[in-house]
Amino acid sequence: MACDIAIKIKSKMDAAEAALNSGSTPDELESIRIDILGRNGFFSEISSELKNVPREDKPEAGKAFNEARNRFTELFSAAGKRIESLRKGTEKKLRPDLTLPGRKHRVGKKHPISRVIDDCVNIFRRLGFIVADGPEIETVYNNFDALNTPDEHPSRDPQDTFYFNDGRLLRTQTSPVQIRVMQKQDPPVRIVAPGRCFRRDTPDATHSLNFHQIEGLYVDRDVSMADLKSTLLFFARELIGSKADVRFRPHFFPFTEPSVEYDFSCIMCGGKGCRICKYSGWLEISGAGMVNPAVLRNVGYDPEIWSGYAFGMGIERIAMIRYAINDIRLLYENSSRFLHQF
Ligand code: DAH
Repeated sequence: MACDIAIKIKSKMDAAEAALNSGSTPDELESIRIDILGRNGFFSEISSELKNVPREDKPEAGKAFNEARNRFTELFSAAGKRIESLRKGTEKKLRPDLTLPGRKHRVGKKHPISRVIDDCVNIFRRLGFIVADGPEIETVYNNFDALNTPDEHPSRDPQDTFYFNDGRLLRTQTSPVQIRVMQKQDPPVRIVAPGRCFRRDTPDATHSLNFHQIEGLYVDRDVSMADLKSTLLFFARELIGSKADVRFRPHFFPFTEPSVEYDFSCIMCGGKGCRICKYSGWLEISGAGMVNPAVLRNVGYDPEIWSGYAFGMGIERIAMIRYAINDIRLLYENSSRFLHQF
C-alpha cells in the first residue's frame, strides 16, 4: 500500500502534468514552475515533510519524490518546447510573404462635378471673374427677398424649399451669393460663385435633392445684354468647342429684367438635331438676364449709375451632357466603378 506522501506527490504531479499540457504561454509555464520548484513550492514542502515520515515508509517516499522530480523536469522541458514552436508558428503566419505580387494603389481622381466646376471657373477667370463663396444655409432674405422674389412665388413654398425651424433655409440657388458680395463691396463686381443647392424635388433621372450651380454676376457702368451674350458665347466655345453657339429665349426671373433662358448648341450633333437634344439642335443650360434695378437698390447700388448682368448654370446638367451620363443620381452614389470612367 502506497504511503500518504507518495499518494500526495502523485496527485500533485498529475495536476501539474495536466496544467503543463494545457498551458499555451511562457507566463503560464513560469507560474507552474514556481508552484512546484519555487522556494515555497511543492517540492520544498515535500522535502521538509520527508523528515517526519515514519522510518518504514522512507524508502518508498524518497523514491516517489525522486521520480517526481525527474518527471517534472521532463514534462516542463517538453511543455517549453511545445510553447516555443507554437510561438514560431504564429510568427511565421504573421510574416509578410515577400514573394507575393505588390498591391496596386488606385490613384483617386476628381469627381466629374468638381472637374466641371474647375473648368468653368478657369474659363471665367480668364475673363476677369473672381470666385465668391456663400453658405449653404441661407436666410430667407438673401435667398428670396433681396432677389426681388414676390411673397407668393411658388419657389418659397415649403414643398419646394427646405426650411429650418429658425426660419433659415437650405439655399435653392447660388443667386444669394450675389447679394452677399454686393452688400460687402462697391461696384464694379465681377464674380462667379460655384456651389451646392437644395430643392425638395422628387429624385429621378434629372432631379436630385442637392445639385450644383455656378452663378455669374457682373455689375459696372453701361453693362449691356450684348456683354452677357458675348460672355456666354465665349464660355460655351471654351467649354464645348469653337463651333458652339448660344441662343436666348425670353423668360422670367424676379432678379433679372429682362430675363432669358439660354441654350448651347448641341455638342453631340452640332445643332443638326439628335436624341440628346431631342432633335431641337439646342441644349437648355439655365437662366440669365440684366440685374433687376430692384435688386441693385436692395444692396444699396444706384441703378441710375450701375447696371449688370447675371447668369446661373446647372453643373450636373453640363456634366451629364459632357460625359453622356443619363441619370443624375449616378453622380451621387459614390461608386468608384462609375467614377473611374471619367
Ligand atoms: N437662380 C436661377 C435658378 O436657380 C438661375 C438664374 C437665372 C441665375 C437667372 C441668375 C439669373 O443669376 O440671372 O433657376
